[in-house]
Amino acid sequence: MTATSLISGGSRGLGLATVERLLARGDHVATFSRSSSAELAALAAKYPDRLLTATFDAADSGAVQAFVRTAADRFGGITHCIANAAVAYEGVLAMMRDDEIDHMLAVNLRGTILLVREAVRAMLGGPAKPADAAAADGRSIVVISSVVATHGSPGLSVYAATKAGLEGFARNLARELGPRGIRVNAIAPGFLATDLSASLPEEHRHRIERRTPLGRLGTPADIVGAIDFLTSRRAAFITGQILPIDGGSS
Ligand SMILES: NC(=O)c1ccc[n+]([C@@H]2O[C@H](COP(=O)([O-])OP(=O)(O)OC[C@H]3O[C@@H](n4cnc5c(N)ncnc54)[C@H](OP(=O)(O)O)[C@@H]3O)[C@@H](O)[C@H]2O)c1
Repeated sequence: MTATSLISGGSRGLGLATVERLLARGDHVATFSRSSSAELAALAAKYPDRLLTATFDAADSGAVQAFVRTAADRFGGITHCIANAAVAYEGVLAMMRDDEIDHMLAVNLRGTILLVREAVRAMLGGPAKPADAAAADGRSIVVISSVVATHGSPGLSVYAATKAGLEGFARNLARELGPRGIRVNAIAPGFLATDLSASLPEEHRHRIERRTPLGRLGTPADIVGAIDFLTSRRAAFITGQILPIDGGSS
């Protein structure tokens, strides 16, 4: 049976690369972001029957709920959920504005929890199955964290707090959902060359490259292989793990 993968933030960066990879392996894919992109529109034209896209804010609980239901109805359920959408405001805590703090908490932490809750509801929505039968379905959740959740970086304390929260969320949810055959893992990338890190000052970027054994910033292509793996049967006995992918910097 064709798997259905739900991916937040599929218009750019790591989310877009994940949409592309999971479509290429044959999944049905449902993704959303606040705005679309030319790259995502091209994928929608290439895969009209397997890609569902929408534009709304991850912090909008009603919209998230409606989208997950639409995706589950269209494709016959949800197999995997990759919670990827996030925002980052860099700055020392003393200068951080209320709206910046609220936005990071609303999108990164609350938005991820809302999305995963709806995905889990859809996954559990069918008739109850014994754990081993459910495991055979290979359902899974992957939460995108960041190495800054465990290894500090000046100017990212609030962003790091949201990511550290997500790692606790993933570890605990893995225990809750294991008996239902749903695996939950997190990936913690190091700095990636995407829009999210575009404001990183040149000197800071060079410092990261110098302290990274593999000598460069990561790219979405460095991360999607692990998402592909964790959402496959090859990872059938892996749950509750946080996987750093950072060129060896942590
Ligand atoms: N870049 C890094 O250095 C780095 C390092 C470690 C971890 N990460 C994590 O990796 C993930 C992907 O990051 P990225 O670098 O690919 O970021 P990105 O290039 O900025 O892309 C973020 C994606 O999320 C969407 N998004 C942002 N806010 C949203 C909202 N409120 N509602 C719905 N969609 C929203 C964006 O689309 P719209 O703006 O159109 O909504 C976009 O599709 C994030 O969880 C990030 O925290 C990134």
